[in-house]
Amino acid sequence: MEAPIATEIVPADAVGIARAAALIRTGAPVAVPTETVYGLAADATSGAAVARIYAAQGRPRFNPLIVHVPSLEAARAIARFNAHASALAERFWPGPLTLVLPLLPNAGIASLVTAGLPTIALRVPAHPVMQGLLASAGVPLAAPSANASGRISPTNAAHVAASLGGRIPLILDGGASERGLESTIVAVAAGGVRLLRPGPISDLGVRIVAGETGGIEAPGQLASHYAPAKPLRLEALAAAADEWLIGFGAVPGDASLSATGDLVEAAARLFARLHEAEAAPRKRIAVATIPQQGLGAAINDRLRRAAAPR
Ligand code: TXA
Ligand code: MG
Repeated sequence: MEAPIATEIVPADAVGIARAAALIRTGAPVAVPTETVYGLAADATSGAAVARIYAAQGRPRFNPLIVHVPSLEAARAIARFNAHASALAERFWPGPLTLVLPLLPNAGIASLVTAGLPTIALRVPAHPVMQGLLASAGVPLAAPSANASGRISPTNAAHVAASLGGRIPLILDGGASERGLESTIVAVAAGGVRLLRPGPISDLGVRIVAGETGGIEAPGQLASHYAPAKPLRLEALAAAADEWLIGFGAVPGDASLSATGDLVEAAARLFARLHEAEAAPRKRIAVATIPQQGLGAAINDRLRRAAAPR
């Protein structure tokens, strides 16, 4: 863990929102109220900013994050909408519905946000403070619920402070969350939608079709495991002839996660480096040793899954 920092709780007025937006522009994560629960928001176009969300939460693994945008129009610049998705968005946005949709190429979203998946979770929040922050920051905001890993979602500023105090610079206090429950998440599928997480919207008005797993699928589980199509070897000191080596620190490799051994930088680059390794003209992938401290635990969790035989 990094050294504790001072966490300020400020009113979610115009001054507070401007300060939060300025912090976001420097790559810091800030806690912000939404109508569902408080979110820990950072610039979704910056891998380093998104890595700081995971670092603050102490997440043992990289679950893909929800990206918040100000409007359906902004969402259309990031993901592909079919007729079902458009109808749901028009009916429930802004509001507590998250849509998992195919990510458009060149959408400009950091690959750490989607954990390397070809899909992205998008939401247009209704809360005026989150809308104000989106307008002021001028970038899409990745935001998981603003709790430390394994803790319950916060519905007021004090909950956030209890969980993340000392780990984030700013909490915008906008009072208690109106819904108090995380958004309903659906993935658009052929002939309807798959319910990935039940939430405030229970009647979607569209057919719920079972997914491969037969019904509700725990988000962040099965569907979200990015695995490269090539065998992957961990804790490599050097590459074999048929290996593409992803380096770290003193091991340079063919491309490095971080030449200086910076775990925030390594997390930010992880999925891009894996994709690059998959496309490289070698049969296998090797990865240098990543220390298990701080974000290293989440990086290693992801690498072990990627290396698991299947
Ligand atoms: O109400 C909410 O949704 C709040 C506020 C802040 O917007 N956010 C929230 O985020 O609950 P989080 O990270 O705690 O939960 C997001 C869930 C995760 O379980 C993740 O696995 C799932 O969304 N998710 C994100 N992207 C996904 C994707 N491409 N496919 C499947 N699941 C995805
Ligand atoms: Mg959560």
